[in-house]
Amino acid sequence: MSSTDKKVDNQNIEVDLDHIPNHIAIIMDGNGRWAQKRHLPRVAGHKQGMNTVKTITKAASDLGVKVLTLYAFSTENWKRPKAEVNYIMKLPVSFFNTFVPDLIKNNVRVNVMGYIEELPEGTQKAVNQAIEDTKDCTGMVLNFALNYGSQAEITTAVKSIANQVKMGNLEPEEVTPDTISENLMTHSLAPFENPDVLVRTSGEERLSNFLLWQVAYSELVFVQTHWPDFTADTLKEVIHTFQGRQRRFGGLKETN
Ligand code: FPP
Repeated sequence: MSSTDKKVDNQNIEVDLDHIPNHIAIIMDGNGRWAQKRHLPRVAGHKQGMNTVKTITKAASDLGVKVLTLYAFSTENWKRPKAEVNYIMKLPVSFFNTFVPDLIKNNVRVNVMGYIEELPEGTQKAVNQAIEDTKDCTGMVLNFALNYGSQAEITTAVKSIANQVKMGNLEPEEVTPDTISENLMTHSLAPFENPDVLVRTSGEERLSNFLLWQVAYSELVFVQTHWPDFTADTLKEVIHTFQGRQRRFGGLKETN
């Protein structure tokens, strides 16, 4: 295959298929503003946002992404009005009810990280069923962060490590950055547990308690597009931006 063949050139967005980021994490922001702009209730933005999840899952899988992590609900999102929380909690049910056959067709495996046991029973059931139904898929991992918060995740990890020390299974001197990583919710995604690129939509430039440990060396890409308007081409633009960055991981040599 010549190098020209390896390029996707769609609407002038060039992506080098040999350097697709393995792990893309997305903070899907702007659903409410998208809806308000159209004089629709905020939840209409979440519904459209769910459809975007379907489009981007397929697009990322087709491009060869290994892990797509989507921040669907944070440990802080419970502060939203009850009706909005209830609506968001029903989205995984509707999403998996309609989309699992497509996920299987595309060889996509579902993973969920977060405090799942605190979710409504129906949501837990839908999530666990989707994990079970796609467990043999060997392609991209679609990793939903649901009732996830990075500070809570790190606190849980520290408690677990402290317990291992207390039980005499670990010496304090043996605790390394790998020990921390191994106790985080992303551990099962190894060797791709750390995102290569973190995207936030809708113009906000904050991490909002998302993957704080894991993004230590991620490329951060902020786009103006509200999540419901995010398309396969926006994804390619993000990848194009990522491919233009020089990653040094604290050293001097270009490794990307
Ligand atoms: C942030 O936008 C979005 C959320 C808190 C919910 C995200 C959920 C989805 C996109 C659907 C997820 C789908 C599945 C299958 C779980 P916002 O409401 O904060 O927007 P705003 O900043 O404009 O108000």
